[in-house]
Amino acid sequence: MQDYRDFIDEVLVNEDAIQKRVAELGAQISRDYAGEELLIVCLLRGGITFSADLTRYLTISHTLDCMSLSSYGVGHYASSGNVRVNLDLMTNIEGLNVLLVEDIVDSGRTLAHVLQMLSTREPKSLKVCVLLDKKYRREVPVEVDYVGFDVPDKYVFGYGIDIDEHYRYLRFIASADLNKYRKEP
Ligand code: IMP
Ligand code: MG
Repeated sequence: MQDYRDFIDEVLVNEDAIQKRVAELGAQISRDYAGEELLIVCLLRGGITFSADLTRYLTISHTLDCMSLSSYGVGHYASSGNVRVNLDLMTNIEGLNVLLVEDIVDSGRTLAHVLQMLSTREPKSLKVCVLLDKKYRREVPVEVDYVGFDVPDKYVFGYGIDIDEHYRYLRFIASADLNKYRKEP
C-alpha cells in the first residue's frame, strides 16, 4: 500500500485536538442524558475509532450496538443516497434513547436515510453525533446534534476514516491530494 506521506495534503486535526474534543463531547452527552439509559449506535466502519474513544469518555450508563450501511453507485467523493443496510441492529430500540455515531456527514443522504428508517421503530429519542461535518456539501437537510469538527470540502482520512479501506489506524485526521494517490491494482 502506498505510504500516506506521498499523498497527504495537510493534517487537519492532530491527535491531542481530537482527544480533547472527544472528551468534551463525552462530557456534554453525559450531561444531556443524565439519569437516562442510552444506546450508542456505531455506524460501521468509519465510526469505530470515534465510538470506541467517545464511549470511554461517557460517565453515564450506556450500551453499544453497530450498524453497517453503504451507499452504492458512488465514487470516492459522492453519495448517491441509494443506501443499503449491510448489517442491522441486534437491539430492539423501541422506547430507547438512541445516539447514532458517524464519522462524516457530507451530502447528508446516509444519515437522512438511517434516521428515517430508525424513527419508524419508535425509539424514545433519536440523535446524531458526527466527528466531522462538511457543512457546505449538504444536499438534504439533517439535524446533527453533536459535531466534533467542521472540515473543508476535501477528501479526509485517518482516525477511523479510510481511503479504499486503508489508513483508518492513523491517530490524526488529514486531507488527501487525490491526484497523488494511486489505487492498488
Ligand atoms: P453522505 O451520505 O454524503 O453524507 O456521506 C457520508 C459518508 O460518506 C460518510 O459516512 C463517509 O463514509 C463517506 N465520506 C464522505 N466524505 C468522506 C471523506 O472525505 N473521506 C472518507 N469518507 C467520506
Ligand atoms: Mg460512512
